[in-house]
Amino acid sequence: MKHPFQNFQVDHMTLLLQPKLYKVAYVIFDIIFGVGSQDLLYEKRKEWIKGEGEKSLTFAVCIGEGASEDPNLNKTIIAVVQPSEPEKQRSHVREMLDNHMAASHWQHIALRTPDLLAFHKHSIERGVNFITPILKDDADDLIQVFSGEWYFPGMPASGMFFEFLQRNPNEEHMKVVEEQNREMWFRDKTFLGLYGEKEGEYQSGNVTPFIDFDLFDAIYDLLKDKEIWDIKPADVEAVEKLMLENGRKKVKTQEVAAK
Ligand SMILES: [Fe+2]
Repeated sequence: MKHPFQNFQVDHMTLLLQPKLYKVAYVIFDIIFGVGSQDLLYEKRKEWIKGEGEKSLTFAVCIGEGASEDPNLNKTIIAVVQPSEPEKQRSHVREMLDNHMAASHWQHIALRTPDLLAFHKHSIERGVNFITPILKDDADDLIQVFSGEWYFPGMPASGMFFEFLQRNPNEEHMKVVEEQNREMWFRDKTFLGLYGEKEGEYQSGNVTPFIDFDLFDAIYDLLKDKEIWDIKPADVEAVEKLMLENGRKKVKTQEVAAK
């Protein structure tokens, strides 16, 4: 059964580019995709080393608009990120690209749901890992959360994850989010917050997976002798049971840790 909060629309996509391509892409978006100055949604900079000047961290472009009445729910947006850190400094973005021998890598797709809190609860109950609490972006009037990466035991982290977000959350939603988070991240902090979180994961070597490795193995074990057309509703039910057990265990551990 599909819940209303599972009606997702693509809000934006985030693309990692090697610095040489970052510059070239900037003009390709202009010439080939028709991105004018009014379509450049933001561009953020940082001076990593004092005196060496600012580097561009990220920019976002609107490459089209749909027919919906609300212009906020209409845009086709690509956010672009380059590893802007000095050569000698570690960069998870550089590692994501270099480790995959890639000049470009689609890092996350942001999926918009009409009810982020309900979706988040549904996912947590089933053992899905998120690397941030639900964050609030004040200037954009949205709430968002970032998942763990899609990979599995024995493989390097893939660099691919999801963002889930809700635009124009109502007051009731906001109250719940505020109660859940003592520390709220706002606009400038949101990009840097995710960036810092990923940087910490890559430096520690502990990249949070979308679902725990033992849960992944247990699910794979149930499915390994089946082709996908052999997977029946009873198998899905068995997998969901494993996920719910994992989710319950983690909530309990967190409750104990919070005491
Ligand atoms: Fe995003």
